[in-house]
Amino acid sequence: MNKVKGTYDVLPNESKMWQALEKKIAQLMERYNYKEIRTPMMEYSEVFHRQSEGSDMVTKETYDFLDRSDRKLTLKPEGTAGVIRSFVENKLYVGNDVVKLYYVQPNFRYERPQKGRYRQFMQFGVEAIGIRSPLLDAEVVSIAYNFIKILGLKGAKIKINTLGDKTSRTNYLEALKAYFEPHREFLSNDSKVRLDKNPLRILDSKDENDIKLVKDAPTPLEYLTDDAKNYFDDVLKYLDSANIDYEISPRLVRGLDYYSHVVFEVEADIEGFGAQNVLGGGGRYESLVEELGGPSLGGIGIAFGLERILLALEAEHINLASEDAIDAYFIVFDEAHKKHAFSYAEMLRANDISVEFDFKKTSFKNQLKRALKLNSKYLLILGEDEINQGTITVKNTVTETQESIKQNDLLTYLKEKLGE
Ligand code: HAM
Repeated sequence: MNKVKGTYDVLPNESKMWQALEKKIAQLMERYNYKEIRTPMMEYSEVFHRQSEGSDMVTKETYDFLDRSDRKLTLKPEGTAGVIRSFVENKLYVGNDVVKLYYVQPNFRYERPQKGRYRQFMQFGVEAIGIRSPLLDAEVVSIAYNFIKILGLKGAKIKINTLGDKTSRTNYLEALKAYFEPHREFLSNDSKVRLDKNPLRILDSKDENDIKLVKDAPTPLEYLTDDAKNYFDDVLKYLDSANIDYEISPRLVRGLDYYSHVVFEVEADIEGFGAQNVLGGGGRYESLVEELGGPSLGGIGIAFGLERILLALEAEHINLASEDAIDAYFIVFDEAHKKHAFSYAEMLRANDISVEFDFKKTSFKNQLKRALKLNSKYLLILGEDEINQGTITVKNTVTETQESIKQNDLLTYLKEKLGE
């Protein structure tokens, strides 16, 4: 049997990297006071298939199905809509000006699988919902910036743009239509449809001819109202004041339909990284909360694709996970001594020390072999003499020095040594 196309297994030798990455995320989120939210893998389809949503991802790539009672359900293709559904349903806005949430979760999109693009993939995302403030937007950009920084990635940059408010957007859409209309016959079939439905989507077309035309298309920056321009300038001022690097990218519009004002992406800039070089993307959304039945509140968020982050780490030879190692390995000379080893192991494990032993009846040599294979820092040797004298021989596998320790002192001894 094979795994489903576009999915992957995280094998035991790979899970350490995932755990290390998730730990970094939790630490980062603590610094910014974001709280974790976990929403279900499936939602009623209308959470994603809303009237306003005409993006390719939502129209062509979702896993939609009927359950046994004919309810229309969708596996979540992204994190934001599910989080907002929960925010509204649980009235998280009551008593809070701003609600700051994060998630690490799988998403599902029926895309053509390739390196960095899967049908089930993990996102780390944040959503800051409530107050409309350039400071909050700057904070979310700062999270993206510092996420990359704490991982040690050098080749990543933030590209930022604004779509402006409703008026700016309407004016811009008209200008785009006017620009593309005379070139209609040269557009791809998909983009011909986009021209009628939502010309913004033409800007992220992958078709070669479309790309040529997009080069000279107007940008949202030329159609901003004063309000929208001031808002964007304020966000940039905050970023500048904290020396957060970014690049203004005037044609960046993002693939989802719910954005207005600030949009941004984090792009990998690593030689030979491959086509899927957008590590993360996000922006401000002003009508999503209302569309999902909530009050008139906006939010801003970003999500990173974690497989792409791991690929970027690999490309830069960064290993977040320390080498696999355990603290101690019990070696016994007699099967009868295993019960001592087991009870010491219980005590050490209860005190956060990782311990292994052999489960088969095997020679000293084989036990030693396995201990070294598992990179055990210490060997805990229990023989007849040790049992009779109430001691244990503790050997450091790196320095090869060994000491006889009273069994009662074992924990204190190991704690001190491992803490060094
Ligand atoms: P998105 O740009 O669709 O935005 O996805 C965010 C990131 O998820 C991408 O930049 C990419 O790294 C990763 N990603 C997307 N599709 C795949 C795939 N098939 N395989 C691997 N990685 C993938 C969103 O999802 C928005 N919800 C972000 C957001 C949060 N906006 C506001 N708040």
